Parts: sequence; structure tokens; C-alpha cells
Amino acid sequence: MRNSSATRRKQKLKRLTNKSVLLGVSGGIAAYKAADLVRRLKDDGSSVTVMMTEAALKFITPLSLQVASQNTVYTSVFQEPLKHISLPAQADAMVIAPATANIIAKLANGIADDILSTAFIAFRGPVVIAPAMNERMYEHPLFQENLKRLLSLGIRQVGPESGSLACGEEGTGRLAEVSDIVDAVVAAVTPQDLRGHKIVVTAGPTREHLDPIRFLSNRSSGKMGFSIARAARKRGAEVVLISGPTALKRPWGVVLKQTDSAAEMLRTVKEETKKGATVLIMAAAVADFRPRQQAGIKVDKGAMNSLAMDRTEDIIASVAAQKKRPFIIGFAAETGGNQERAKQKMQRKNMDMIIFNDVTEEGAGFETDTNNVVIFDRKGSAKTGLRSKDEIADAILDRYLEIKT
Ligand code: CTP
Repeated sequence: MRNSSATRRKQKLKRLTNKSVLLGVSGGIAAYKAADLVRRLKDDGSSVTVMMTEAALKFITPLSLQVASQNTVYTSVFQEPLKHISLPAQADAMVIAPATANIIAKLANGIADDILSTAFIAFRGPVVIAPAMNERMYEHPLFQENLKRLLSLGIRQVGPESGSLACGEEGTGRLAEVSDIVDAVVAAVTPQDLRGHKIVVTAGPTREHLDPIRFLSNRSSGKMGFSIARAARKRGAEVVLISGPTALKRPWGVVLKQTDSAAEMLRTVKEETKKGATVLIMAAAVADFRPRQQAGIKVDKGAMNSLAMDRTEDIIASVAAQKKRPFIIGFAAETGGNQERAKQKMQRKNMDMIIFNDVTEEGAGFETDTNNVVIFDRKGSAKTGLRSKDEIADAILDRYLEIKT
């Protein structure tokens, strides 16, 4: 039993199981990243069929993409008759990465003169485009007009990012990160049951400074809160993630606000919830105390025999006291199985739901990729069992939707 649960914990959640993705590669330097994209889509459980434009062949060989996808790569409409019709008919999503200015212009104008553009016009499912080009090309009004036209048809855009470009210039035009492209594809095939919800999520620890060098903090890695933000975005919510210092990357499509102390997190949560948030999820491990004095220069240890502390303001309680308040979900990280304490906490702080988390259990709590929680709300409770934090995030959001509808 121990072995099978250990294996399960190591297994990555496959978000594209039984899905079939058509990947269109057009001819820009970022085409070399297509092999990695194929691998990552397959790692997430998808089957991938690649179509390439003629220009893409100059940057990456069909053989590389054939090996990566373990599928035939299509480079011409005449390679196998009618594939431009049958491939789109069988696919769940189409992603074009990199998408050059040329392919975007063609798609926006209904031009169908190669395998990729003909398959696009024959496809009726969700399409994700990942533009990549020089910044001046990206900003050109003609290109922007074409892009806008595609977006108005419901086509989803991921990237481009800013940074150093292959041409040696700095600017906006880099292909989005491959993991972000995969997340956008996952969102494209996920039911958007949280569309219209504006969710504020907090994550990570806070830091309470003694002086410019020392601070008090805790072991929170931020993983649970980041998983919730990612899951909510995937399901169509507008998400603001307010995070204390962590080593984690901003999830795709999420607005990230970085904070440091509990006071700063409180300020940011108040600002963001006032902008019409429907839900506040407080996964952050907020410090309960801060040093009474914060020195501007390093304090000599001889002058620090004891530490005077003050209570920090409670973020949940302060949002719950607002007249117009969002649905509030809190966490109770406990050492031991005292679930009663969590329920009392929910009532005391006027929360709508609390996630009880015994951090001493195997595979639960800080720094792990898994968790094991009990979800309490005003109507009852549900145990999740040991699952990945991404799955726990979905279970919390499922329960929220059940209560609200
Ligand atoms: N929390 C908060 N503001 C604080 C402290 C905690 O909003 N200043 C939130 C946490 O983000 C969490 C919930 O309150 O969602 C419960 O946090 P926890 O530390 O377990 O509860 P406390 O009320 O601090 O109770 P105790 O430390 O006595 O267990």
C-alpha cells in the first residue's frame, strides 16, 4: 500500500489524457522549441500531430518532430490526401506555435494554401496561437489588426513575452514559455465553469523584519496557493494571486502581486477584493506576530536579549467584516487531527469554508507537491485523501461551485 501511494504521489497529473492536439509550426526561429512543446503536451497525456509550413522546415526537421510526437508529421496538403479535413475533425484543440506574422495574416484573412492554414479553416474546436517575432513586426498596425480579428473569433493568444530576441534586439516578441503554452491548451479544453468569477488567492509566507538583515517567517512554499490560482484560471476565472516570497513561477494568465509582510499583504488583499472579487482564498501562511520595532540598521546582538512582538491584523477577519464581502475560504494548518479547532476558526473568523490541513501527515503540508485535507463549510465536510495539490485545488473549487449554485 505504501508503495502504491508513493508511486501515485510521484505521478504527474495528466491534464490532457485522451485528448488529441494538432500542433501547427510556422517558420520562425522559435520553431526549434516545438520539439519541447510536443514532449510537454505528451507528458500531459495528449496525442500530438504536427503540421509544418514550408518555412518551418528551414528551422527544424520533420524527423525531430516525428520522433518527439511518435506520429506522422504533415508538411503538405498533398502528402496524404484529405488529411487537412480528417486531422482537424479528430482533434480536440489546435495550437500554432510559433505563429509568425505571415501565418497570422493568412489565418485572419481565410487564406488556405498549405497544410496548416487549410487544417485551421477546417477546424471547429478551440485554437491557441503563440505569436513570436521581432517587436516592430509585432507592433505593426497591420499585424495587430490581423491578430485582433483572430481574437474576435474566440481564438486564444498566449505570449509573446518581453526579453532578448533572436535578432539581437530587446523587446516584446519572444515565444511564450512552453509550460505557459501547455497551460493555455489545457484551459482551452477544460469546461469554463468559473467564467465570470473574480478570485483573489493568497499564497506563501510573510516576512516580519527585525532589521534590514533579519526577519521572522515560516515554512510555507506557496505551492498550495499557486495550485489554486492555476486551477481557477484553467477553469475560466479571472485570478489575482497575492504572494509572499516564494521560488515559484507566475502561473499562466494570472495577475501576480508580490508582497512581503503581513501588513503589506493585508493592504493588497483589501485593494484587490474591493475591485469586485467574488471569492477570497487565503492559502497564505500569514505571520500572527511582528517585531515591535524594526531597526533601520543591523541590530547588535548584544542589544537583543529578548524580542518584543505585536499581533498582526487578521486579514480574513478584516475582509469578512466588510459590508460587501466576497465568499471567503481559509486554511487551518494544524499539527495533529484537531478538526474541531478548524471548524471553530471558520466560525470565529466568519469564513464560508475552511480547509483543514494536518501538516504532520505523510505527504501533506509544507513544500510537498501533495496534500491531504478536509473541506469544511457551513453545510458539511468532505475528505480529499492524499492527492496532488493541483487535484486538491480543483476539489476546493468544485465544492465552492456546489455551494454557490
Ligand atoms: N490568516 C489571516 N490573517 C492573519 C493570520 C491568518 O488572514 N493575520 C488566515 C490564514 O491565511 C488562514 C486562516 O487565517 O487562511 C487561519 O490561519 P491560522 O494561522 O491557522 O489561524 P489563526 O487564526 O492564526 O489561529 P492559530 O494561530 O491560533 O491556530
